[in-house]
Amino acid sequence: YDTDGNIFYDLGYDGLYSDDVSRILSRLEEENQDVWAYAHTYRNRDILILGRRIYEQYSQSRVIGYTLISIDEKIFSKTVTLWKSGAPQLLIMYGKVAIIMKIYKAKDYDELSRKAASIIASQVLMKPDCVLGLATGSTPIGTYKQLIEWYNKGDLDFSSVKSVNLDEYRGLTRDNDQSYYYFMYNNLFKHININMDCTNVPDGTQSDSDKECSRYEDVIKSLGGIDLQLLGLGHNGHIGFNEPDEEFAKTTHCVDLTQSTIEANKRFFASIDEVPKQAYTMGIGTIMKAKKILLVVSGSDKAQILHDVLCGPVTPHVPASVLQLHNDVIVVADEAAMAKF
Ligand code: GLP
Repeated sequence: YDTDGNIFYDLGYDGLYSDDVSRILSRLEEENQDVWAYAHTYRNRDILILGRRIYEQYSQSRVIGYTLISIDEKIFSKTVTLWKSGAPQLLIMYGKVAIIMKIYKAKDYDELSRKAASIIASQVLMKPDCVLGLATGSTPIGTYKQLIEWYNKGDLDFSSVKSVNLDEYRGLTRDNDQSYYYFMYNNLFKHININMDCTNVPDGTQSDSDKECSRYEDVIKSLGGIDLQLLGLGHNGHIGFNEPDEEFAKTTHCVDLTQSTIEANKRFFASIDEVPKQAYTMGIGTIMKAKKILLVVSGSDKAQILHDVLCGPVTPHVPASVLQLHNDVIVVADEAAMAKF
């Protein structure tokens, strides 16, 4: 029993299969009980299965949102103490699977930047020759500044780090001040000791898009995959340049940018006509293969889309919603972006 008198079954499973999950769910259904069932591991994750009445009770209070945000502090605080190995990593909520994301709510943009930078810094410290997936856009600029500061203090060494960037405008040369190569060089690379030969950005000048995209996929494969992928979030839910679509794109590909993205990015160009209409971007499949993902989101203009991404259905119409299915995502968002939670 937890402190509210709910029955809490410790199933004592060590390795659980989907058949077991359906069996447990139908048993909970038959008994129509207020039950929390806890099984030790499922694909190396601790899981919690909720009986229907409990599920309904919490789904009305937006359990998925709260669970995702702060498992330690909110609704599960009563039961967390019962768990021998800490909070569960995977919730099966009356048949729905919700993989828990770690979500950090930062007070403001500076705190967001420090938090995101410290996650990247720990990756570099733990694996000095790691492969970092990097992103452009205005959101990660503060994160890069913080990394540069720590590098200047002698706390970080990027000499063995390899990097792959998410995307690049098609048609822009590296020295064009709007290219993502230029962005990365000026906002990060030139300030740290990364070996430029180990940095990778799709080549926007390659007119044979199939060739360039498969070359880029091969580069990522040859590096052994991405250890930590940093992502920003577009206003329409895009990640990299994966725009809303009917299906998730698997690999690096050439995209036609949507009008809303062109509008959003025109602020960096002299006029809207100068914004490229196409880009090369890692696919959703490429991004999902990253071992760990760090999504940074700032500002009230992203509040609705962030809520859709984390709590709405997983759909290619909101490309970032696919992150709900990744098993190691950290979201760092400021209060303004978290306003809908
Ligand atoms: C661009 C980039 C994305 C980025 C997004 C959001 O379109 N291709 O990778 O995440 O914009 O940018 P910002 O952080 O400036 O809002």
